[in-house]
Amino acid sequence: MKSQENLNLDNYWLPFTPNKKFKANPRLLTSAKGMYYKSDDGREVLDGIAGLWCTNAGHCHPKIVAAVQNQAAELDYATAFNMSHPKAFELAEKVSSLTPIGLDRIFYGNSGSEAVETAMKVALAYHASKGDGQKTKFVGREKGYHGVNFGGVSVGGLTPNRKSFGPLLPGIDHMPHTWDTEHMAFSKGQPEWGLHLADELEKILILQDPSTVAAVIIEPVTGSGGVIVPPVGYLERIREICTKHNVLLIFDEVITGFGRLGCCFAANRFDVRPDMITMAKGLTSAMIPMSAVAFDNSIYDQLMEGPEAMIELFHGYTYSGHPVACAAGIAALDVYEEEGLFDRAKEMEPHFQEAIHSLKGLNQVIDIRNIGLMGAIHFGSDGLPATEFAAKVFQHCYDNNVLVRYSGEFLVLSPSLIVEKEHLDTIANALKAAITSVS
Ligand SMILES: Cc1ncc(COP(=O)(O)O)c(C=O)c1O
Repeated sequence: MKSQENLNLDNYWLPFTPNKKFKANPRLLTSAKGMYYKSDDGREVLDGIAGLWCTNAGHCHPKIVAAVQNQAAELDYATAFNMSHPKAFELAEKVSSLTPIGLDRIFYGNSGSEAVETAMKVALAYHASKGDGQKTKFVGREKGYHGVNFGGVSVGGLTPNRKSFGPLLPGIDHMPHTWDTEHMAFSKGQPEWGLHLADELEKILILQDPSTVAAVIIEPVTGSGGVIVPPVGYLERIREICTKHNVLLIFDEVITGFGRLGCCFAANRFDVRPDMITMAKGLTSAMIPMSAVAFDNSIYDQLMEGPEAMIELFHGYTYSGHPVACAAGIAALDVYEEEGLFDRAKEMEPHFQEAIHSLKGLNQVIDIRNIGLMGAIHFGSDGLPATEFAAKVFQHCYDNNVLVRYSGEFLVLSPSLIVEKEHLDTIANALKAAITSVS
């Protein structure tokens, strides 16, 4: 491996990164194990964000590593069109045993963005197949993140991700986000205030004419937009409104899936059943890129109505159900079960909550939000501009061997589900030191 001094940094264009700033001061990771990375300058860095909300079983879990190694040596690839391999079916069966009852049909992609596109396309195809071809509109939500492809960006609600890329899809509306510092700052878990914001969806549907709307897509807990936890009763109300107006409900669980909220899915935790769930990240504990969409059986059944020899859905990817990804997925789901990691996340939630809320009152901290093992610390601009403050706190933590994530005006935390209380204390202490010293 080349050392940093001998590495040519010119060619690689990093995603979602200020490239010039990064290349002036690169942060490189060279190996990982459990809760820790090793940096190229030989430091052990505690990973407070599970890679990117994704290494839910911890880094380089030996069982998942072995499954990947064995599969790569046994069957590297099998074409996904008109052919398949046993592990694709085995994983789909396992995933469907974890989804809410009746969301049993699983379609594979390679990234969360592809899962979102798949869900949106199937929503359109489903309505068309029922003779409702006029149902073509979608409703997303402000601050929502649904990946970077055109459908996902169109329903997404993060301004920087949208501007420069127009025209986006037509026929898209957005309901308001639910973050409100005046009424819910420093709420622990679900805020009591904000249920009425769900009714905005009904106003939008009526304005758009619900008979023209295909689906509503939301993250049950807004992730990349800043860990915005749904107010009590909010998701239930969204479900009611979608059902009333015959509009499909898609939960984008790319982050919340596979234990982040102490249950396999947010749908389980909140006991709200969507019509589709998009998932990725924790599906393989990030060992191999893979995503999936779980569909309500009635959606699949509707699309299966044509003649037997006809392709029902003209959609799919070269790597849909890639054998190595399936092997990683099966192993990851086994590890979650054998090690009881979803319950572990639930057990750790109170300590995580306490640790993160211990930062209340520090410089520029205007809000702290959390649920399960995901949380955000939000900064105001009463000193340095909030975005600069967040970037500096992130760098200070990294220099002191703790990796957090900064995004705009806030930092997020999302440790692996194997996290111990001591790790959480170390992360909170590193943040305290950083926030106190940066100003
Ligand atoms: C809710 C949600 N949807 C979709 C995506 C896109 O996933 P990917 O980056 O794998 O395309 C993400 C990524 O973080 C996400 O958080």
